Formats: sequence, structure tokens, C-alpha cells
Amino acid sequence: MAGRQHEVFDAIVLGAGAAGLMTALTAGQRGKRVLVLEHNNEPGRKILISGGGRCNFTNLHVEPRRFISSNPHFVRSALARFTPVDFLDMIAKHRIAWHEKTLGQLFCDGSARSVLAMLLDECAAGNVSLRLSETIQDVRHNGQFVVKTDSGVFEAPAMVLACGGLSIPKLGATGLAYRLAGQFGVPVVSTAPGLVPLQLPDDVSDRVKALAGVSLPVRVTCGKATFDESMLFTHRGLSGPAILQISSYWRDGQSLSTDLLPGKDAFTLLKTARTTRSRAHAVAILSEWLPRRLAEALGPGLLGEKAAGEWSDKLLRSASAALKAWSVTPDRSEGYAKAEVTTGGIDTRALSSRSMEITEVPGLYAVGEAVDVTGWLGGYNFHWAWASGRAAGNAI
Ligand code: FDA
Repeated sequence: MAGRQHEVFDAIVLGAGAAGLMTALTAGQRGKRVLVLEHNNEPGRKILISGGGRCNFTNLHVEPRRFISSNPHFVRSALARFTPVDFLDMIAKHRIAWHEKTLGQLFCDGSARSVLAMLLDECAAGNVSLRLSETIQDVRHNGQFVVKTDSGVFEAPAMVLACGGLSIPKLGATGLAYRLAGQFGVPVVSTAPGLVPLQLPDDVSDRVKALAGVSLPVRVTCGKATFDESMLFTHRGLSGPAILQISSYWRDGQSLSTDLLPGKDAFTLLKTARTTRSRAHAVAILSEWLPRRLAEALGPGLLGEKAAGEWSDKLLRSASAALKAWSVTPDRSEGYAKAEVTTGGIDTRALSSRSMEITEVPGLYAVGEAVDVTGWLGGYNFHWAWASGRAAGNAI
């Protein structure tokens, strides 16, 4: 088209999220001419809303087993070469105050905006061109990658898929990375919403609705995955950190087993109560260890209406087993509209773990959430974005 701009760069990064900005600033500061194309009218929307507005930007306990992938060893190389301390060095350089909240989770003291400002400053230091509100129309490869947008045609020998997954379309997720992977013949591991609340079947959720707002520490297990964190009852089902964590492992049809008294020997507790509180009833006794509303919902069903002194050993055994392994089968998750991340994605077996380059398509890279790597809740997903972005940015 006459008058349409045609510009040449060393690399074009698709997506100005955490991974794209880290890739761009790294390559830019190595002297590469980098263009970042973003369809939103601002970069880093997820960074801005992350961690309740304070951005849980990394975790002190980053280690490969806290990342889910169908190729679990893939993350090792990038994580070993970009650690939480490396990110903290950048944070310190920009004088961003931070604190550890819990379980090694590091948050800004102030606003998540400071993390985005840091990334943009670092991009500026690398002369990165950032173009916002760009609609990508078409991508071709003729030795060079040629990206056509509403505003022009951009060409480079390297292109980075940093456009995330499917989570939260209203923040900009489109699945472009998977479509382009398909175009270039790169396999994609099937995706699912991750770090997402789970819904219970209607007959269960009617009973659970009465518990909405109740939260308690639990140990939840699905298959081989187990998490010790808190669980929250909602109007539709279950949420809270324990459920968000397990949701990334949960698949349709699987049951969750939940220990409602983690670290406690329920049988011994109930047996002791039978002697020491023989005139008390189930609700009063269970509410010593469980939130009152949960004790009210479970007590009569598990231990009957009789006073504790009349409880049989058999009753104690069945009640304690139920408290230690409350089993529910979620109906579905709340979907991509509510999922913090997308599990699955571009198959890491097609990528170099050193550079994030797609082995069969030299010059094409994939980073961040677009790739089949999903971190646990707690700063791990941003850490993967930083580590994979750094690996690609150093290789371009
Ligand atoms: P990300 O999705 O951030 O960026 C992709 C970019 O590509 C976006 O800017 C998008 O608009 C753009 N894009 C998509 N399609 C495009 C197209 N067709 N054309 C052009 N651009 C396109 N993690 C964590 O570690 N700590 C935390 O505190 C939180 N908190 C949190 C809260 C909420 C509400 C959510 C939804 C998620 C989190 N996360 C998190 C997860 C974290 O936000 C996520 O893992 C990273 O943002 C992934 O970074 P990426 O850069 O890979 O994708």
C-alpha cells in the first residue's frame, strides 16, 4: 500500500507483557534493534493488576518442580541462568521497595506500576521501539519474518512469540501465539485454564452456597499433586490459594481429596473430646478446629445428634476419615475469563531450552505464558516470563 511504512529491525517481539518486555530490553541493551508490537493501548496490563496491584514479581523458592510442563526438565536451564536474585538486582537498581509476604512470595511495597515503569525504562535504555494499538494482520516468513499491521510492514530476521495464553481475554489475551505456532508447524500442548476457581455440581453447590465466604487452611490433593494452603468456599464452589494451585493439575472428571484438619490427628482429637467434653455436641466440638459455619454444616451429618460421650469408636473412625479426606468432584473450572494463567501451550520439545528458539524454524522464539510452562501461584509465572525472556533476549 502506498505510503505504508516499511521498517527493518533485528527482532520483532509480539506482545508487550512481562516476557516480551524482558526479551526486548535484554536484546536492545545488547545493541539489537528491537520492535515490540502490542495490540492493547498500554503495555503490561497484567503486570498492573497482578498481586492485587502490588505485583508478586518473583519467589525466593524458584525451583523446577514448581513449574508444570509436559516436559518438566525444560525450565532448568533458563531458571539456572536467571534467578530471583538477578531480578532483585534490577529492582534494587530502580529503588523499588519490596517485601516477602508469605511462602517466599515477593511483592512491591507500593504499586505494580513501578515494575512496569522499570521494564519500560530498561527498554528505553536499549532503544527498544514500542508500538501500541497495533493490530497484527498477517505474518509471513521468507527468510525474514514480515509482520503486517494496520500501520505498516515490519521485517526482521528474528521474531518472538510473547503474546501470552488465553487467560483473561478482556486484558488482551487472544491465542495469537498458538495460531502462529500452528502456521509454522510447531506443536501446541492442549491448553486449559490454570490458577482458577473450581465450580461444584449444582446439587453440591446448593449446600456449599451456605458456606460462601468461609475460609480455612487445608491440604488438598489431586492425583500426585498436594498443596497446604487456605481454601475458600464461594457461591459456586471452591477457591482460595489451595484450590487455585490444585486447579492447574485438575482435569475434568477428577476428584479432589481435602484434609480439613491438616497436621491434626482427627481420630485422637475426637476421642479426647468424647471424654473431656462428653456433654457437648458435634458442632460445638468441631468448631474448636473448624470455622463455625463449616462445623454446623458437617457436624450433624458426620457425628449425629447425640452428645460426645455417646459416640462409638466406629462413628469416630468414619467421621475422622471424612474430615481427613473430604472428597468432591468439581464440575468445571470458572474458565479463561477467571484463570490467572493458561496451562499447556507451545510444546517445549520444539524449543531450545537455552535460547527459547524453535529448533525447526531458526529465528522464531517463544517465551512466557505462550509456552507449555505454568508456574505455581506465588510469583512463579512472572519469574518464568523474566527467565525465558532473558534467555531469548540473550540469544537473538
Ligand atoms: P502476558 O499475557 O502478560 O502478555 C502478552 C501480551 O501480548 C499482552 O500485552 C497482550 O495484550 C499481547 N497480545 C496478545 N494477543 C495479541 C495480539 N493478537 N496482537 C498483539 N498483542 C497481543 N503471576 C505472578 O507471577 N505473580 C502475580 O502476582 C500474578 N498475578 C496475576 C493476576 C491476574 C489477575 C492474572 C490474570 C495473572 C497474574 N499472574 C501473576 C500471571 C502473570 O500475569 C502471567 O503469567 C504473565 O503476565 C505472563 O506474561 P507474558 O508476557 O507471557 O503474557
